[in-house]
Amino acid sequence: MESFLPHFEGKETPFYFYDLGLLSDTIAAIKSANRYGYHIHYALKANNNPEILKRIKEAGFGVDCVSGNEVKIGVKNGFQSSHIVLAGVGKTDKEIEIALDADIFSFNVESIAELKVIDELAGKRGKVANISMRINPAIDAGTHHYITTGAKENKFGISGDELFESLQLINELKHIDFIGLHFHIGSQINDLNRFKNLCEKVNELQKALHDTGLSLPHLNVGGGLGINYQDPINDPIPDFEGYFRVFHENLELLPDQELHFELGRSIVGQCGYLVSRTLYVKESPHTNFLILDAGMTELMRPALYQAKHKIVSLSNASLNKVYDVVGPICESSDSFGKAIELPETKRGDFVVICSAGAYGETMKNAYNARDLAKPYYKD
Ligand code: LLP
Repeated sequence: MESFLPHFEGKETPFYFYDLGLLSDTIAAIKSANRYGYHIHYALKANNNPEILKRIKEAGFGVDCVSGNEVKIGVKNGFQSSHIVLAGVGKTDKEIEIALDADIFSFNVESIAELKVIDELAGKRGKVANISMRINPAIDAGTHHYITTGAKENKFGISGDELFESLQLINELKHIDFIGLHFHIGSQINDLNRFKNLCEKVNELQKALHDTGLSLPHLNVGGGLGINYQDPINDPIPDFEGYFRVFHENLELLPDQELHFELGRSIVGQCGYLVSRTLYVKESPHTNFLILDAGMTELMRPALYQAKHKIVSLSNASLNKVYDVVGPICESSDSFGKAIELPETKRGDFVVICSAGAYGETMKNAYNARDLAKPYYKD
C-alpha cells in the first residue's frame, strides 16, 4: 500500500484509486480457471468506469445490465450487442425499447406481465426478442439479507411452478424466443456449497422441462462469488478455480447447452480503493474518533449492509491506537468501523478503505451537497 503513496500525493481527497494491474491479474485468473468455455457477462452495476470496462471488454467478456442506461453504457464502451443481457424486475417501456433497438442477446425476464410487454413492443418493431426466464430457486444464499435475491420472499424472478403454468403462453407469444433460464441467488457468497445447491435446483427444473419436451440452448447462473473483505491485501483474487469447478461438476448441461455467468464484485471489488485524509482526531472520554473526509456518500456499503471493509492508515507511527473510524456526513450510520486498531493517526494522514472497487463509485451520491469523488488509475 505504501507504494501507492506517490500516486496519492497532490490529489484532492476523497478519491477512488484503481490498481488496473490487479484488475488484469484478476481477469487472467478468470480466463485460466474458465477452461470450460463458459460465457462471462460482467455485471456493469458493480463499476462502470470506462478504464475498467476497456479491460473487461478486451478480455472478451460481455455485460449484464439492469437499466436502459447500462445498455447504452455497454454499447458506448464497445461491447457487442450479442454479448449484452438485461435483467431487472421493473424494466420500463423505454428501457425495453433501448434494448430491442440495440438487439441485445437476451432479456432476463422477471415476470409474465413483463414478458407480454416485451412481446408487444418487439411486435411493434417487427422483431423477435430472445428471452430467458429468471427463476427464483428458493435458495438461501447465506449472505446479508439485503443482497439475497433467490429466496422465496425476494421480488426477483418467478417460481418453477409459475414457469410451468406459463409455458403454453410463452409458446404462443410470437415476438419472443424462449432461449434459456436465468438464476441469480445473491451477492458476496463465499460458501461454494450455496452454488452447488443452485446447480441441484437447476438440474431438477431442467429434467422437469425436458419431460415436457423442452430443451433450452442457454443457461445463465448469474454472479455472486464473494471477495475477501477481511484480508484483501493477502488474498486479492477470489477462488475462480473452485467456483467454476462447482458448476462443472454439479450442473447437468444438456448437449450443446451454453452456460453463462454474470460476475460483478469478484472481478472489480479488490482493485478499487477509497482514499481519504484524516480531518480530525477527536478524543472523547469513551471513544477516539478518527474523522475522515470520506463518508457514506462515497461508499454506502458499511451504512447500508453493515459491511466491514479493511481500513489502512498510512501514518508511519510505531504506536497503535484504537479508533472509531467515521465520515463527516450528518448521520450516525456514517461509520466505517468501530474499535479499529491502527497506527496512531493524525490530521492530514492518508486513510485507505480497501475492497471498494465494486458497488463503491456506482453507488456514490451527493448527499449533504457534497462533491462527487473522482477516479484515478494506476497500471
Ligand atoms: N446478476 C444479477 C441479476 C444481479 O442482480 C447481480 C447483482 C449480479 C449479477 C452481480 O452479482 P455479483 O457477482 O456482483 O455478486 N450493492 C450490493 C450488491 C448488490 C448486488 C446486486 N445484484 C453490495 O454492495 O454488496
